[in-house]
Amino acid sequence: MVNTVQNPGTQELRPGIKNPVQETLLTPRFYTTDFDAMANLDLSAYEEEFSAVLEELRSDYNRHHFVRDEEFEQSWEQIDERTRLAFVDFLERSCTSEFSGFLLFKELSRQLKTRNPLLSEAFTLLARDEARHAGFINKAMSDFNLSLDLGYLTKHRTYTFFKPEWIIYAVYLSEKIGYWRYITVFRHLEAHPEHQYYPLFRYFESWCQDENRHGDFFKVLLRSQPQMWQSWQGRLWARFFLLTVFATHTLTVDERADFYDTLGLDAKEYNRHVVRKTNETSLRAFPEVLDTEHPDFFRRLEKCSENNANNQKIDASNKPKWVKFLLKLPSNCSTLWNLFRIYITKPIDAEALRGEVH
Ligand SMILES: [Fe+2]
Ligand SMILES: [Fe+2]
Repeated sequence: MVNTVQNPGTQELRPGIKNPVQETLLTPRFYTTDFDAMANLDLSAYEEEFSAVLEELRSDYNRHHFVRDEEFEQSWEQIDERTRLAFVDFLERSCTSEFSGFLLFKELSRQLKTRNPLLSEAFTLLARDEARHAGFINKAMSDFNLSLDLGYLTKHRTYTFFKPEWIIYAVYLSEKIGYWRYITVFRHLEAHPEHQYYPLFRYFESWCQDENRHGDFFKVLLRSQPQMWQSWQGRLWARFFLLTVFATHTLTVDERADFYDTLGLDAKEYNRHVVRKTNETSLRAFPEVLDTEHPDFFRRLEKCSENNANNQKIDASNKPKWVKFLLKLPSNCSTLWNLFRIYITKPIDAEALRGEVH
């Protein structure tokens, strides 16, 4: 059925093609890395684990999963304006971040093809999954007469350089947090089907298993590089990436409280749950994780979120740039101070617990 949903409130690049949201510190990023160093990663100490995750990826459990069933064949005009705007925004961000994973994995598979064929194959399989995820979301956007021009995004986004170790910490976390985000929404809607206003959410259960497997693959890469978990630098980087990912998550979930509200989820509770679970999962791969049970942990993260909201109000005003800069200074100092305090709070030593966690 052809639907006739109009798109007030969204900017279009061309008719039906959505203008990508303005890039900020919080929008999903595109990455590039040192491909030579990646090709030379020595996985010999973790060969068995690597073969096991590669076998899992080859099994392609979700090859028949991303097929739109008959429930998609209808008009979505009944979805109210507020819900639709919040939902389309969620779709866009999710599609961008799935697509960002696809581009990175695809480029890694291409660059490593002759230099490290097994690692290249693993990245090809990861890219396969992310292409499916991004494509499935983009198709959902077309139900609202919108889609993202992924070719335009590829050319016009700026690429951030991350050395391989940073890629491994960051992608491990983004896959695991992706897993917890999808499964939490899925389980919530399973218990409260009255909030399921679009069939995409029903796909999250098997979908998030892809993210879980991707995370497990990056865990093998991480554990195969002893300097990433044995050295004090590795410990500091691990904490740094955990903090960055959790702070970004807290700010973006708070900014989009409306979307979680449409699902009947409390944004703050959702964020806390996802952060706690991701931190707990990271115990299996990282040398240290953050103490999310520290009484100040969420208080400080949420203070950063308040500061962010405050800054957005200032940015939206008509004041000159330098005035905005001065007005934002106290919030920015407060955010840096709170993040620093979390960073220096005594972490949980995962290596000391190794053997107890699996
Ligand atoms: Fe994905
Ligand atoms: Fe993934």
